[in-house]
Amino acid sequence: MQTTVFDFDSVIDRQNTNSVKWERYRGRNVLPLWVADMDFLSPPAVIDALRSRVEHGVFGYTLAPPELVDTILQRLFSLYQWTVDPSALVFLPGIVTGLNLACRCAGEPGDAILTTLPIYPPFLSSPQLAGRRRIDVPMLDAGHRWEVDWDQLEAAASQPDCRMLNWCNPHNPTGRVFDREELERVAEICLRHDLVLSSDEIHCDLIIAPDKHHIPIAGLSSELETRSITLMAPSKTFNIAGLGCSFAVIPDPTLRARFKQEAQEIVPHVNLLAFTAALAAYQHGDPWLVQLLDYLRGNHALVLETINALPGLTMKPVEGTYLAWIATHESGIEKPAQFFEEAGVGLSDGRQYGEPDFVRLNFGCPRAILTQALDRIAQSMTQAPSPR
Ligand SMILES: Cc1ncc(COP(=O)(O)O)c(C=O)c1O
Repeated sequence: MQTTVFDFDSVIDRQNTNSVKWERYRGRNVLPLWVADMDFLSPPAVIDALRSRVEHGVFGYTLAPPELVDTILQRLFSLYQWTVDPSALVFLPGIVTGLNLACRCAGEPGDAILTTLPIYPPFLSSPQLAGRRRIDVPMLDAGHRWEVDWDQLEAAASQPDCRMLNWCNPHNPTGRVFDREELERVAEICLRHDLVLSSDEIHCDLIIAPDKHHIPIAGLSSELETRSITLMAPSKTFNIAGLGCSFAVIPDPTLRARFKQEAQEIVPHVNLLAFTAALAAYQHGDPWLVQLLDYLRGNHALVLETINALPGLTMKPVEGTYLAWIATHESGIEKPAQFFEEAGVGLSDGRQYGEPDFVRLNFGCPRAILTQALDRIAQSMTQAPSPR
């Protein structure tokens, strides 16, 4: 059988498409490598499915396709040996919505929610939006990788009003894919301190380290499952984030009822094109995904080598996601995101993730764009202040 080769090299013009990523720098010579969507076409199967659904021409209220429920459950089983009952699935228009609903399901207003730091910005705002207090647990620099500060996690979880851990795996922005031992340690802490565990696993299909695989933490034990909310989506994987189809897996009926209660008449249903794209992606997108991951591995190698060769900049290998977390503190650059933007590369500002001396670089783009951006970064570093 002939294998289809998918094209990740062509540069697709996203100007004038109202792209959040590209509009920020409209009319400026700045390459946008910030917000987490990719500059690639979605799998052809997704585009074809959308086209044929649009051609039908009637766009009324829509139920979740039963085949999508089956496909998701089969996928959770075949990839992770995790058996989930169909009743546990709650469809959502976005993972950030899920994060915020989860915070409203933990204890009462005034109670505390834990998060690791640095972290994807909505983790920083969602506890407060739910009237909860946030406790930050720093990630530690273990040299070759970022690790949870276990002592601090234990101390924070011991606080009497602590009700929940907001976990993220693969971790945005550090790119960690946590090992089974680490996940078991997190699970044990949640069980011992009676915490709800919300786990954002939106990047679970984007594992780029060859020796890593994703483990949904809730699947570790039935005890843990009953206190867990797992958030997943095809959006990052298949580059359909603008469509908005995500889901929560909440096996416990009481926790699920509370989550749904919080959402009732406030959170809109997933739209029909999002369902169409999600189904096609999960059913037919895997050959594309295999090639995407290869391409991302190539991009990652280029970023890792280039960044670590520049005096003043360092990054650790990314295990999952297409996001590189770059430390700038040895460069003497005061405002790194602004510095690189002035050099023609738009990166995410580490301050938004709780760490001012970092920038996050999205390498989900054609190699030609990435190479140009890295050249600009390298060139700009010749103008950087002397290392601290
Ligand atoms: C960890 C994480 N969660 C959630 C999201 C956003 O999800 P959504 O667009 O479905 O709200 C992102 C996007 O970058 C993310 O990295």
